[in-house]
Amino acid sequence: MGLLETIRAGRKRRPRRALVYGVQGVGKSSFAASSARPVFIQTEDGLDTIACDPLPLAKSTKDVLDAIAALYGEEHDYRTVVVDTLDWLERMIWDDVCAEFGVKYLEKADGGYGKGYTYALPRWRMFLDGLDALREHRGMAVILLAHARAEKFQTPENTAHDRFAPRLHKLASALVQEWADEVFFATYSSISDPARVKTDAVPERVMRTSEGPTHVAKNRLGMPAELPLEWAAYDYYVQQAYPATSSSSKGAEPNG
Ligand SMILES: Nc1ncnc2c1ncn2[C@@H]1O[C@H](COP(=O)(O)OP(=O)(O)OP(=O)(O)O)[C@@H](O)[C@H]1O
Ligand SMILES: [Mg+2]
Repeated sequence: MGLLETIRAGRKRRPRRALVYGVQGVGKSSFAASSARPVFIQTEDGLDTIACDPLPLAKSTKDVLDAIAALYGEEHDYRTVVVDTLDWLERMIWDDVCAEFGVKYLEKADGGYGKGYTYALPRWRMFLDGLDALREHRGMAVILLAHARAEKFQTPENTAHDRFAPRLHKLASALVQEWADEVFFATYSSISDPARVKTDAVPERVMRTSEGPTHVAKNRLGMPAELPLEWAAYDYYVQQAYPATSSSSKGAEPNG
């Protein structure tokens, strides 16, 4: 293949990788359940009320990697793999590292001083590589779910404030965020301003798609900063960015 052909081939539409994080109960799992033919690798309970196809509850990183391997090797017609949630996967990764070093806390692993967090990163890469293999060879999109936490953010102007970020150690969080095509912060439209909440009605659920002072987020699709927390909204912008193979119906292209 010539060099220019390689460039053209590189622009082809590929299944997307999204990280969706947000507060408890905001609707992360429901969002993922409405994606294109999803299958859930669940590391925590809580899918009982959601209509979806969950694999048996994963209790270790081996269970998670085995699930990825099964989706890679076995016959199925799922188009999206959902990992619900990364918070619990992280605990499992820490357990593995602690067991390897015979310590109780990750802070003490690999000689201490928090080196265990760096030591854990190749395990995260192995997990992400497995998901990439599902994308490349099975055409599956990926949705990773995580809870949210407030983290200290140091601005270039040397002031600091809190902002929401995935509830993961900062090294793992940075790795997963870099890997993902999109990072969405799922929240309520008026959560930050209780004075504006006048009724008992549940505020609208939204996803913030671009980085702001209150949260981390990103997208590569030219999305507005805030969208309804709905799969169709995400899918719409994927179709806009890649109109050639357009098919917006649920169950056709795995969103990418
Ligand atoms: N867009 C929505 N509009 C109204 N209700 C919703 C919406 N999305 C989810 N819900 C409801 O909110 C509840 C929590 O949803 P869901 O389990 O998807 O949230 P979650 O963020 O995954 O929660 P958890 O943090 O506990 O895993 C469910 O009862 C669900 O039916
Ligand atoms: Mg959930």
